[in-house]
Amino acid sequence: MPSGLRVSILGGGSAYTPGLIEGFIRLKDKVPLERLVLMDIDSRKLSIVGTMVKAMLEAEMPGAQVDLTQDRLEAIRDMDFILCQIRVGGLAARHLDESIALDLGVVGQETTGPGGFSMALRTIPVMVEIARDVETHNPDAWLINYTNPTGLVAEAIHKACPVKMISICDEPMILQEALAGFLGVDPEAIFMDYFGLNHLGWARRVFLKGHDILPVLRQQLMESPRVDLERIFGSAVMEDPKNRLELQNTLRIFLETGLLPSPYLQYYYFADEMVKYRLASGKTRAQEVIELEKAILVDIEKMSAGKKKPEIRRGGKWHADMMIGLLSAIARDSRSVYIVNVPNRGSMPELPCEKVVEVPAVVAASGAHPLAMGMMPAGVRGLVQAVAAYEELTVKAALEGSRAVALEALTCHPLVPSREVAKKLLDAYLRTHAKYLPQFGGNQ
Ligand code: G6P
Ligand code: MN
Repeated sequence: MPSGLRVSILGGGSAYTPGLIEGFIRLKDKVPLERLVLMDIDSRKLSIVGTMVKAMLEAEMPGAQVDLTQDRLEAIRDMDFILCQIRVGGLAARHLDESIALDLGVVGQETTGPGGFSMALRTIPVMVEIARDVETHNPDAWLINYTNPTGLVAEAIHKACPVKMISICDEPMILQEALAGFLGVDPEAIFMDYFGLNHLGWARRVFLKGHDILPVLRQQLMESPRVDLERIFGSAVMEDPKNRLELQNTLRIFLETGLLPSPYLQYYYFADEMVKYRLASGKTRAQEVIELEKAILVDIEKMSAGKKKPEIRRGGKWHADMMIGLLSAIARDSRSVYIVNVPNRGSMPELPCEKVVEVPAVVAASGAHPLAMGMMPAGVRGLVQAVAAYEELTVKAALEGSRAVALEALTCHPLVPSREVAKKLLDAYLRTHAKYLPQFGGNQ
C-alpha cells in the first residue's frame, strides 16, 4: 500500500461525514490518509462540515491534506477511492417520495417500496454520469457507492459502464457488530451466512468458532426477551424512536421465523403497522431527518467555533468500520470477507446471473468475489424473487426513461396493492419530480 490513500467523498457535506472521518482517525494505522477531498454541490453544508473535518484531521492526522470543492472532476482525478453518498433532490425530494406513497395508504420509505422506486429514477442517471466520469478521467480508481437505493444504483452502474465499483450498506455490519456486542466477542470472530438483496437480506446461520449460534440465541431471547438495546447500540442511537421500533421489529421477526432479518423486513412483514405508525406520527421519516440534520449542522458550527465538544450524532461506528475495512481489503489485497452488493454470478442460483445481490464476498485488490450462498428458504424465496423482478424493471425504466417499463416495475412490487395504485403512484412521481427525471422527458 502507498504511504497513504487519496480518498474523496462525493456528497461530502452530509451529516454522515464527521462519523466517517472519526473512523478514519480511529483506524489510521489500518488506512492512513494522504489526501481527503470533500465535494458537495451545497456550498453551505460543504463549508460547515468541511471546517469541522479539517479541524479533526489537523488534530489527529496532521500529515493529511484536506480540500473542499464543488467541482466533481477535482474529486475524481488523482484519487485512489471515490466514495459516493449523494442524494439527488435532497431530503425535500425524499419527503415527497415518502408522502406520495403514504397518501395512497402504501408504505412510504426512502428505499423500500414506491419511495425507493422514485428515488431510483432520480438517482440512477446521475450515478451513471458519475461512473462514466470515473471511467473517463480516472479508470484505475475504485468507486465505493453507498448512495441509496444501493442495490438498484449498483445494478444500473454495472449495466451501463465497466467502472471498478463496490456498493455497500452498513446493515450487515450493524447486525454483525450487534451480535458480537450481545455475545461479548470480537465482531471478526463471527461469520454470517447471509443472503438476499440490499435492505432485503437475512442471516440464516451465524457461526462462532464453527457453531451456529442462532438457535441458542433464539431460545435465550424467547426465555428472556428483554434485551438491553442501549448497551448494544448506545443511547444516542436509541434516542431516535424510529431506531427503537426498527430493532424491536427485527427481534420480533427473528423470534417468529428463526431467520435474523435486515431491519427493513419490517416494512414487508408489518406493512400495515408501518403505514399506521407513520400516519400517526404526522411526519415522514424525511421530515424527522431534516430536523435532525439541522440540529447536527448547528452543533457542528458550535464545535468548530470551539464552544462544544465534538459529538457524532448521525452515522456511527458501523458505517465507518464497514467502509474503512473495505478500503483496507482492496488497498492491501487482503482477501477479507465483507457482505457487499455485487453481481450475483451464481451465488444465489434462484436469481438471474447479472442481478445485484447482497452476499458475503472475498474483497481484494481485484474487487469483490461473491461466495456461493445457495438456495433460499422457500418461506422467503417468493418475496426475494418478486422484489428482484421489480428491481430489474426499475433499473431498465430508469436507464431508458420508459414509462411502460416503470409501470410494470411498480405493478410487481409486493407492497403495491394493484396496477391502478401503481398508475397513481407513477403519475404523481413523474409529475412531482419532472425536473429530476430528464430521461422521461419525451415519454410521459
Ligand atoms: C441505515 C441504512 C441506510 C440509511 C440509513 C439512514 O444505515 O442502511 O441505507 O440511509 O440507515 O436511514 P434514515 O431513515 O435515518 O435516514
Ligand atoms: Mn442501507
